Amino acid sequence: MAEFTLPKNSKIGKGKHFPAPAGSKNVRTFKVYRWNPDDGQNPRVDTYDVDLATCGPMVLDALIKIKNEIDPTLTFRRSCREGICGSCAMNIDGTNTLACTRAISDCTKNEVPIYPLPHMAVVKDLVPDLTHFYAQYASIRPWLRTQTAAPTRERLQSKEDRALLDGLYECILCACCSTSCPSYWWNGDRYLGPAILLQAYRWIIDSRDEDTGARLDDLEDPFKLYRCHTIMNCARTCPKGLNPARAIGEIKKLMLARRG
Ligand code: SF4
Ligand code: SF4
Ligand code: FES
Repeated sequence: MAEFTLPKNSKIGKGKHFPAPAGSKNVRTFKVYRWNPDDGQNPRVDTYDVDLATCGPMVLDALIKIKNEIDPTLTFRRSCREGICGSCAMNIDGTNTLACTRAISDCTKNEVPIYPLPHMAVVKDLVPDLTHFYAQYASIRPWLRTQTAAPTRERLQSKEDRALLDGLYECILCACCSTSCPSYWWNGDRYLGPAILLQAYRWIIDSRDEDTGARLDDLEDPFKLYRCHTIMNCARTCPKGLNPARAIGEIKKLMLARRG
């Protein structure tokens, strides 16, 4: 039977409040989603008042300060802190983005909400389970596939062909786009979603790849590709300014062209 309310153990409760030290003059509040699979408790939202006078400018700086100085139990992923690894992707101030490149001063809400990427199973606190996302990435076999013998030095590419990869190679697989896509929310088990389709297109149009036909055959499926309804959330949210919807449109055009 369809269930129209959250199951009891998913209801988010009121959490703890951690006030800023006395005398703090420049305080910003962060409301952070917390869930620990080991304590049997419902999720909650903890409130942290952070003194910005002693904090770096980015949301990731605030999270690191919270973990180091206020509440060491807070769990989140991060590595490069410069928008390259994609591991700090989360929902900040209502938008999927990278904590390390989102300035605290750009957040619009006084009390900045911070949640894990939406519609994903949560491992703990702000850490989503990306196992299925990575399996989908592996399913497109994202490497140069060739049939001809390897040249003595390297497979060359003209400047024009190399330029076709612009707007694609910059993708850091952060999953912000896929987890903002309503089609992926409802059909993520079979629809590949914007991130993986952008990656698929990156190999399809690489002039050095010799498996284009097989790559298109693999995507010729009512679910893998055609669940994209051009809602465009993906392009709006990508923290690297990429446009997965355009890449998906280009794949659909190639599908049509080869039928014709
Ligand atoms: S297209 Fe953008 S939002 Fe999507 S995974 Fe790549 S970098 Fe992240
Ligand atoms: S354009 Fe397609 S992939 Fe992007 S959010 Fe919309 S349905 Fe999802
Ligand atoms: S920490 Fe690497 S992208 Fe944010």
